[in-house]
Amino acid sequence: MATPRLVILISGTGSNMEALIRASAAGELDGRVVAVFSNRPDAGGLAIAAKAGIATEVINHRDFADRETFDAALAERIEAHQPDLVILAGFMRILTASFVRRFRGRLMNIHPSLLPKYPGLDTHQRAIDAGDSEAGATVHFVTEELDGGPAIVQGRVAILADDTAASLASRVLAIEHRLYPYAVQLFCSGRLTMNERGAVLDGQQLPETGVVDAQLQRVAG
Ligand code: GRF
Repeated sequence: MATPRLVILISGTGSNMEALIRASAAGELDGRVVAVFSNRPDAGGLAIAAKAGIATEVINHRDFADRETFDAALAERIEAHQPDLVILAGFMRILTASFVRRFRGRLMNIHPSLLPKYPGLDTHQRAIDAGDSEAGATVHFVTEELDGGPAIVQGRVAILADDTAASLASRVLAIEHRLYPYAVQLFCSGRLTMNERGAVLDGQQLPETGVVDAQLQRVAG
């Protein structure tokens, strides 16, 4: 099989994107990052991708009259790179149903909570305010329901008594950088697909939490 072609969408720092680029360069990913798109011209991740020799492109949502026309333009430009998988990595725009349908089964996102808990924003503060004992992140296939598509893998961290949203976010982010290359590799190796009932790994329907792998929970350092 040809090497899977990966397109990554970012809006900001791009640390998850960087983890994927690193994994690919290290030979840990049977996939090649062929392009990085940002809706924000000032996204820090653009320089990181360019330095790694990856094509970057800004499609500024402010240049479009509405969500539909922005998404249509974005989809066209993404298709030009013939991606096998489109990876949302801190892409802070809600995508339209027509965009999601177009890339159905080959569109992934990472969300900083243990979905189905806390879809949307401010996930870490919400987990702290609720008195939760743990937080985490979920990689999932994207469907038309916001942060609601089938989970592929989850990583958990304990919430400490003195945690702030920022301190918790940085520990969760360290887990994210392991989870995303792991999930993308499952896809690239042909082991992971999506059907109408959810995510399927090695021919088995995954549970609501996706894979919970003890190895992935350990944060280095
Ligand atoms: C991550 O926490 C991710 O889960 C969320 O946005 C953040 C992006 O961080 N969707 P980065 O740009 O990858 O550093």
